[in-house]
Amino acid sequence: MKPARRRFTQLDILWLVFLSGLAALKTQDEFHKDLILLAIGLFQIFEHRFLVLVRKRGKAYSVLIKIGLATLLVAHTGGINSRYSYYLIYALPVATAAMFYGVWATLGWTALATAAYCSNLIPLLPEYELTRSGTIELAIRNLFFFLVGILVNRFVTETRRQSEQLRETHLRLQQAEAEARRSERLAALGQLTAGLAHELRNPLGVIKGSAETLSKDPPPQGALAKELSGYISSEVNRLNVLVSRFLEFARPHNVEKQPEDISALMERALKAAADHWPNSRIKVERQFEKGLPPVPVDAALLEQVFTNLVFNAYEAMGGEDGELRVSIAAESAEGHSGVAVKIEDTGPGIPPEQRDQIFNPFFTTKPTGVGLGLSIVSKIVDDHGGSIRAEERNGKGASFRVFLPY
Ligand SMILES: Nc1ncnc2c1ncn2[C@@H]1O[C@H](COP(=O)(O)OP(=O)(O)OP(=O)(O)O)[C@@H](O)[C@H]1O
Ligand SMILES: [Mg+2]
Repeated sequence: MKPARRRFTQLDILWLVFLSGLAALKTQDEFHKDLILLAIGLFQIFEHRFLVLVRKRGKAYSVLIKIGLATLLVAHTGGINSRYSYYLIYALPVATAAMFYGVWATLGWTALATAAYCSNLIPLLPEYELTRSGTIELAIRNLFFFLVGILVNRFVTETRRQSEQLRETHLRLQQAEAEARRSERLAALGQLTAGLAHELRNPLGVIKGSAETLSKDPPPQGALAKELSGYISSEVNRLNVLVSRFLEFARPHNVEKQPEDISALMERALKAAADHWPNSRIKVERQFEKGLPPVPVDAALLEQVFTNLVFNAYEAMGGEDGELRVSIAAESAEGHSGVAVKIEDTGPGIPPEQRDQIFNPFFTTKPTGVGLGLSIVSKIVDDHGGSIRAEERNGKGASFRVFLPY
């Protein structure tokens, strides 16, 4: 078992400072006292590691070791009759027990500590007699240890209770947030369905009209019949695209993230576009940073993101002439480190007044567009905890920037 790593804290330094203070006071010519103080200091600092290493009953051993060290210190600084108050060191095991245990166990450990303290009487018994005032003084000292134990225990219990409450509140907040997100999604779905119904109505109207004209008696002949059945076929195609695009958007994504090479996913999207426009003279310029670590993403979904963006860029350049610049680089945004992917084209660009709308479902300026591409893109990027925005390019075309956090 490897002990959990813990850095030397400010508190550890303070410990050492105060213990050094105790050691520096030369109350007697004895180096044992300094050694014991050193042992106490070291044990306190490495107690955390000790507890990790000794899982079973580690806390009990820790308190016992501290009682032992305290007893040694008192024994080596004049015993119970000492002119100095080293006996206060018993507050250390008592406070430790109060931090680890409940109130009754704390009282039990305090009783053991006071018993250890009183055991310093044993070597004196043959020579001294315990006076009445001596007994009272001893009782006072011991009772104060109990007070320390209860006080620390109360404080620790209260802090623990508060942090538990905080955790519970945090959990409830998370649940409330999840609920809010769910109802937001439902509202968005409602809006979307209304949009879809609207989009379905136009082609259905064309199909219905064409079919009615075709079914007239006598049915239209020649060129008109051909035109009408052409309408039916193209509108059915349009409906098909619409429905499959809609499903792509509305179906809940199961995001399964795995470390992926972003540039490989981008290459696949670029290849899909090149295959789709085999005769295009669009020049693709790649600026992929070397040695980027893999990013945890869902490969299939992210390929969809890149494909949509690259297709939009090709479509903006008419699929013919232009330059597509794709860059991938490490970046830090909003306190997260991640990868930024930029896709820039030399098409007409996005007019400023449309920049707010392009991510809305069904917003399209293309005769055969559905207007769901960027909605799908932004949903997937959101699911990855990333962000996407269209950036200004001063009339040189459009530029999209996707940020994906590690
Ligand atoms: N690279 C670009 N250059 C110029 N305009 C763009 C670019 N990318 C998107 N747009 C604008 O944003 C609109 C919405 O894009 P989106 O991808 O959502 O839908 P679409 O491409 O029209 O349809 P589809 O659902 O088939 O993708 C586009 O119609 C276009 O007006
Ligand atoms: Mg598109």
